[in-house]
Amino acid sequence: MAMPGTEPAPTQAGQAPAAPRKKLLIRTWGCQMNVYDSARMADVLAPLGYAPTEAVEEADMVVLNTCHIRERASEKVFSDLGRLRDTKRERAAGGKETIIAVAGCVAQAEGAEITARAPWVDIVLGPQTYHRLPEMVARASRAAGQVIETDFPAEDKFDHLPEAATPQGPVAFLTVQEGCDKFCSFCVVPYTRGAEFSRPAGAILAEARRLVAQGSREIALLGQNVNAYHGEGPDGRTWTLGRLLRALAEIPGLVRLRYATSHPRDMDDDLIAAHGEVPALMPFLHLPVQSGSDRILRAMNRGHDAALFRGIVERLRRARPDIALSSDFIVGHPGESERDFADTMALVRETGFALAYSFKYSARPGTPAANMHGQVPEAEKDARLQALQALLREQQQDFNAGCVGREVEVLVTGAGRHPGQLAARSPWLQPVHFSAPAGLIGGMARVRLDAAHPNSLSATLLAATSPVAGLLDPVQPVSEHATA
Ligand code: 5AD
Ligand code: SF4
Repeated sequence: MAMPGTEPAPTQAGQAPAAPRKKLLIRTWGCQMNVYDSARMADVLAPLGYAPTEAVEEADMVVLNTCHIRERASEKVFSDLGRLRDTKRERAAGGKETIIAVAGCVAQAEGAEITARAPWVDIVLGPQTYHRLPEMVARASRAAGQVIETDFPAEDKFDHLPEAATPQGPVAFLTVQEGCDKFCSFCVVPYTRGAEFSRPAGAILAEARRLVAQGSREIALLGQNVNAYHGEGPDGRTWTLGRLLRALAEIPGLVRLRYATSHPRDMDDDLIAAHGEVPALMPFLHLPVQSGSDRILRAMNRGHDAALFRGIVERLRRARPDIALSSDFIVGHPGESERDFADTMALVRETGFALAYSFKYSARPGTPAANMHGQVPEAEKDARLQALQALLREQQQDFNAGCVGREVEVLVTGAGRHPGQLAARSPWLQPVHFSAPAGLIGGMARVRLDAAHPNSLSATLLAATSPVAGLLDPVQPVSEHATA
């Protein structure tokens, strides 16, 4: 399952080497997995002397880390590449070389087209080959020819990446699983990210301890199909996600755990029970259902029906009564009738979501749904999306309004928008703002939620809390691009 919140807004990532000689610009689109991968790419390039920059004209290397999940993603990449060709020409006139690399899912899916349409691109690399980036950069700067590296190698790419060097801040992401074998009719992920693969639990525990030592208090475990996790445990047995979460929760100083993105088919009994038994596991779950119609769920090859989803929600709420739910929905999958859509609306009304992402179906070439009969006219998709989003917006506002008056513990993540204000995160992923001294950044605080706004809550500070004495105090503010 791909990550939620994947609007294609570029973000930058990078890390300063000991003796910066060259500049690196990484533009990241898409999911948290790509944000994580960009940070790792910056890590592997740092020993080659690459320091981060945000100014394209001074970049000796530009990496476009792309996302394929949205419609027209590849066209956006090609128009960016057109602009980069001009920058490369201008820099070459001044005697400066520019290496241009395309990474991520567009590279994986359209490698050959990129080299044909944009011959000024030096490197095209798929998500499984990032550990070989330094070698590719070296080869690209020696030869004028292009380097293509999108095959899935047998070895584990994580084994070849250096330990994450850049502190991530109070909230950290940790990839535990990659790839997907589920082949939903509409989705490119099984083709671009390859088969499902789980990291060994020992390596994950070691990375989590390192993140906590660097100041992270909340860790979100990531994977396209994170709850299908089945990594080798230190005891030689196969660990499930539930087992892994219970072991992570024992790390002193690690206050909060989350995981995304899950598939209903993989919500096993132990994982559901963990929501009631592991206090560090936050009462929030992103569990995409895509549709409320059994007919459409079958056409989507989801391997579950609406009743299975309803049953999971019921068991989760029994295990953890304050759990809030988030989901992904697709409207207008081929064959979706008004009646099927009404089933989706009914499921949403009945479940009540705190947050949700909803999309119009868009055909991805090469996926089974792209060739299915019964493609839904655009105007109908628009109307259904508007109706669904209005309902989901109302539910989100109701959920936020229902939090007003509650006293909760929040993780203070940084400075707020206004002077004297801090930004924090509630247990339910809501941004929370309140007045407090900057020294609280990186720690936990108890607040009273005072008012709900469209996308955040304002609060009053009650007390700074330190659940692990001596570990959270004094708090070290963590800068995003600090040198390790
Ligand atoms: N069309 C529309 N939405 C899609 N998603 C994935 N593929 C498509 C597609 N072809 C949505 C799903 C997924 C989320 C990350 O993106 O809802 O869960
Ligand atoms: Fe998620 Fe299905 Fe895509 Fe796998 S194929 S990533 S389960 S939507």
